[in-house]
Amino acid sequence: MSSQPQTALPPLGVGILGAGPVTQAIHLPSLARLRGTLEVRHVMDVDPQVAESVAARVGARFSTTVEDLLADPAVDIVAVCSPHQFHAAQVIAACRAGKKAVLCEKPFAMNGEEAAAISAVSAETGVPIVVGAMHTFDPAWLAAEAAWGDLPGQVHTVRSSIVLPPNPRFEDFATEIVGRVPLPSRDSTGPEAIGAMLTGGVMGLAIHDLPLVRRFAPDFASVEVLHADTVRPFGYLISLRAGSVTIELRAAMNSTWEPAWTFEAIGNDASLCLDFTPSYVHAGSATARIRRAGTTTVLGPFGHNGYEGEWREIAAIARGTGSAPSADTLLHDLEFALAIAGGEAPAPAREESLA
Ligand SMILES: NC(=O)c1ccc[n+]([C@@H]2O[C@H](COP(=O)([O-])OP(=O)(O)OC[C@H]3O[C@@H](n4cnc5c(N)ncnc54)[C@H](O)[C@@H]3O)[C@@H](O)[C@H]2O)c1
Repeated sequence: MSSQPQTALPPLGVGILGAGPVTQAIHLPSLARLRGTLEVRHVMDVDPQVAESVAARVGARFSTTVEDLLADPAVDIVAVCSPHQFHAAQVIAACRAGKKAVLCEKPFAMNGEEAAAISAVSAETGVPIVVGAMHTFDPAWLAAEAAWGDLPGQVHTVRSSIVLPPNPRFEDFATEIVGRVPLPSRDSTGPEAIGAMLTGGVMGLAIHDLPLVRRFAPDFASVEVLHADTVRPFGYLISLRAGSVTIELRAAMNSTWEPAWTFEAIGNDASLCLDFTPSYVHAGSATARIRRAGTTTVLGPFGHNGYEGEWREIAAIARGTGSAPSADTLLHDLEFALAIAGGEAPAPAREESLA
C-alpha cells in the first residue's frame, strides 16, 4: 500500500454524500490535512441547510440530490457518508457514474445481497471501492503487519475491547456540528431493543475491527457465536469461535470509564497489542506492541491516524498507484460481520458496565 501523499499532481476532487457529524468531525479535518492532494468540491445532504453550511466551510458547491453531485465533473472521488441504509444504492450509483474511486463509510451494506450487488457493479465498471474501516489504514497496524512474521499462524485468542463516551462528546471536540439530530430515547430492555442493540453494536462499532480480527481467524465461514450479551446504555459482550481461534468482542459506550480501544492477538510464542486512538480524535496513529520471547517491539505512534491513512490510500488508488481491496475481501469482511450479528439470541441486558 502506498501511504505517501502525492503533491506533484493537481488535487483530486472529492464529493461527499451526507454531511452529518462524521463528515464534519472526521473527514473534513482529515481532508484539510491533505490539501494539495485532495480538494472537497461538492457536498450533498438531503437537509439543504446542512449541505449549504458544510459546503461553505470548505468553499465547495452544495446540492441536495445524489444525481446533482454525481453529475458534477469536478468530482473524481465520491465519499458515501449518509446513514447506512442508503450506502448500497449510493455506492452503486457512484460506480455507474464512472468516478475514479468510492469511499464508503462502514458498513457498506446491510446484507449479503446488497454486498454482492455492489461487488458485481464494481467489477463491471472497474471503479474501486474502499470501505472506511479506518484501523486497517492506521500506520501502526500496517507497521505491525510488516513485522509480525509467523504470528497469524499461531494465534489462538483475539480480543477487541472498546470503551468510549457517546459519539457527540468527541464530535464536539473536533468541530462545531451543524444539523445534529438528537437520538430518540428508547426502551433498551425489550427483546427487540436488545436484538437491535446487538446488531447495531456489531454492524456499527465492532465492524471497525472485524477486518483486523479476520487476519488472525481466516476460517471465518465456521463462525460459532458462544455468547452474546448487551451492556447498557450501549454495548456488547460477544464470545465466538472461528476455526481454532477464540474471539472476544467487548464494547461499552458510557461516560464512566477512560476511553480505550485495544486490539490483541495472542499466540503461543508471540502476541500483538494495539492501542488505537478513539474515533474522531485526530491525534496520530495507534501504538503497536509485538511481544516475542521476552522482547517487546514498539511500533508508533506515527504522525497520522487511520482516517488520514484511508484518504491517502484512496488518492493513490484514484491515481492508479494504490491497490484497492479485492471485492472478495470486502464481501468476506461483511459476511463475517453479518454472521456474528445474527449469531445468537442475546441474554437480557446487564445493569453494569464493562470493566
Ligand atoms: N468511521 C467512523 O469512525 C464512523 C463513526 C461513526 C459513524 N460512522 C458511519 O458514518 C456514516 C455517517 O454517520 P453520521 O453519524 O454522520 O450519520 P448521521 O445519520 O448523523 O448523519 C448523516 C447525514 O446524512 C444526511 N442524510 C440522510 N439521508 C440521506 C441521504 N439519503 N443521502 C445523503 N445524505 C443523507 C442527514 O441529513 C445527515 O446530515 C454512517 O454510515 C456511520 O455508520 C463512521
